[in-house]
Amino acid sequence: MCGSPLHGLDLPKSKHKAKNGLNVTVREISKKDLENLNEILNQGNVNNFLHINGSSFEETLRYYENYLSERRIGLKYELVAEINKKVVGATIIELGKYKRSHTGKFAIFIHSQYQGLGIGTILMKQIIDFAKKLGLKRIEANNIHSDNKVALNLYKKLGFKIEGLAKKAIRKNGKLIDGYHIGLIL
Ligand SMILES: CC(C)(COP(=O)(O)OP(=O)(O)OC[C@H]1O[C@@H](n2cnc3c(N)ncnc32)[C@H](O)[C@@H]1OP(=O)(O)O)[C@@H](O)C(=O)NCCC(=O)NCCS
Repeated sequence: MCGSPLHGLDLPKSKHKAKNGLNVTVREISKKDLENLNEILNQGNVNNFLHINGSSFEETLRYYENYLSERRIGLKYELVAEINKKVVGATIIELGKYKRSHTGKFAIFIHSQYQGLGIGTILMKQIIDFAKKLGLKRIEANNIHSDNKVALNLYKKLGFKIEGLAKKAIRKNGKLIDGYHIGLIL
């Protein structure tokens, strides 16, 4: 990380095993990861469950530059999962401000060829632990696509509760589908 000093906490680096035995390193995002992350964001079966339709490299770079400015003031933190020097997934937490400063909003995505190996679980556990270290009292995500059974199973397994349903909140493949609001009290 270059530029002005960082505020907030350092993101920890940790080592794990995926279900297929591969070594997984979890660490903070860096600029060299952007090519791998951009590839993942353009996989149809990944962005089908996100609110974006894909990302040009320039958009991913702009996202990262914005991330760095928010990171410097301790408002955003992003962890990536790396296998054999390739980034295969990421999770981001964005802190609320003012009356919402005890909360964090998260997002997560895993490379399509590395899904189902426990990497989403590893990243979620790391970001939940980190949110606790930051002193947050609640983490949440809004508008989880109602057809995203895998993500809903993952969040349920980790203790998240469904707190609301936004009817017809997402336009997808020519249809309007519902979105779930979920939360975890820390
Ligand atoms: C959702 C996502 C992050 C999960 O990550 P993952 O690494 O594939 O998940 P894991 O292997 O850790 O599995 C987590 C849980 O999901 C559930 N799950 C995994 N594969 C599943 C499948 N094929 N069908 C149903 N549930 C499934 C299980 O409950 C599993 O827990 P278990 O293995 O202890 O039973 C990942 O699939 C992904 O990036 N999807 C596309 C983008 C996305 O949906 N992001 C989240 C937006 S809210």
